[in-house]
Amino acid sequence: MKNNSCSIKWKRITICGGGNGAHALMAFLLKNSNSRLNLYLPLRKELQRFQAVKDRRTPFTLIFKDEEFSIPMERLFITSNPKEGAEADLIILVVPAFAHKDILKSLAPYIRPGTVLAALPARGGFEFQASEILRQNRKEGIVIAGFQTFPWACRIKEYAKSVEIYGQKIQVGAASLPSHYGMSISRGFNKLLKLEFPPYNNMLELTLNNQGQIIHPGIMCGAFSDKLSRLYQDNEIPLFYRSVDKKTADLLESMSREILEVKRAIEHNFNLNLEAVSSISQWMLESYADDIEDKSTLFKMFQSNLSYRSLQVPVKAVNGLYQIDVKSRYLTEDIPYGLLVSKAIAELADVSTPKIDEVIERASKWIGVQYLANGKLKGKDLIRTRIPQNFGLDSLEAIAEMFKRRI
Ligand code: NAI
Repeated sequence: MKNNSCSIKWKRITICGGGNGAHALMAFLLKNSNSRLNLYLPLRKELQRFQAVKDRRTPFTLIFKDEEFSIPMERLFITSNPKEGAEADLIILVVPAFAHKDILKSLAPYIRPGTVLAALPARGGFEFQASEILRQNRKEGIVIAGFQTFPWACRIKEYAKSVEIYGQKIQVGAASLPSHYGMSISRGFNKLLKLEFPPYNNMLELTLNNQGQIIHPGIMCGAFSDKLSRLYQDNEIPLFYRSVDKKTADLLESMSREILEVKRAIEHNFNLNLEAVSSISQWMLESYADDIEDKSTLFKMFQSNLSYRSLQVPVKAVNGLYQIDVKSRYLTEDIPYGLLVSKAIAELADVSTPKIDEVIERASKWIGVQYLANGKLKGKDLIRTRIPQNFGLDSLEAIAEMFKRRI
């Protein structure tokens, strides 16, 4: 790569994944950019469903801000072949973090130097996992990138045919490894998606500032732990974010303070800039601004955030009724690929995290896994998580060194 900056004219872009987020990103990229767009769908059923719609030349519908946009799909190339999927200047994984490993492993043998390999969102520790898989495939010169969250709250309306956007964040932090490509990635995404992607200093800021790791497990434990065995009628399913009460907001703030303590300890001892790591309230204000009607307290912000007005707690069907689904990604993604990664970094920084530990231990029991024993990283299921220790990073010196390296 020349001049320490990667090209921001991504002529060929691959989106990996066929879920809600991939539908939204595909629609916005087809609408806003002229790049050639690949959709890499390793799951055969999804490939077939997309292919059937594309063969009928049905335009795709994007429902956004009360408008319906009809988007031709001719420019979209669909594949389940990893070699074709990797033929891109920019590859964006838009899947839950537990699917990153399979996709990275399938694409890694074919990725060429100069490619930007991004996860939108990154969740915690994407950079540790991606670096390790690229190293195992003897790949060099690839820029790893990640995003602090997903820009939209969205759901598929009809598979491969339409997606609805419920809310759009004002800004989403972007970072890279090596860290100094962050500005190029940020500019490139600003242009592609016509949204603000402020550059973070390094990918550790993404891991610690991943607010989903606080919000999702925190709300599940704070607002729903006494409702797990209840059965709901279709029209009784509670809203998720709007169920935050004062006590749950306090729990979220305590968890957020513990992360800020980790930030302070690392900045103080390892000369790594983590200024993007913010409190949960600051992040809410920066991400949603005018979508929030009452900004006086975190509790009120959850109650009055318009983007949160219709999203329900995840449920599963049980005998014609509905029960809260503890195996939803709010716990199965946001703990092993989020909160636990931050906990592991806290342990390396020698910072205690009692509220975070409580949430992890309680949720682990619901999911049927063991990550912690007496607040320490000693559980038998740690191996299936993205803690840095699983990738040979056993000290903060080693982690800081990784983020300071320029090649
Ligand atoms: P989703 O559940 O709709 O999509 C899952 C997709 O991942 C599947 O359709 C499949 O294409 C792919 N996948 C799953 N397992 C796979 C495997 N083993 N191999 C290959 N592909 C596999 O998830 P969604 O909503 O698209 O979310 C993507 C990410 O965005 C997640 O991290 C989620 O937490 C985050 N996010 C999504 C939001 C939304 O409103 N959709 C809002 C905020 C964050």
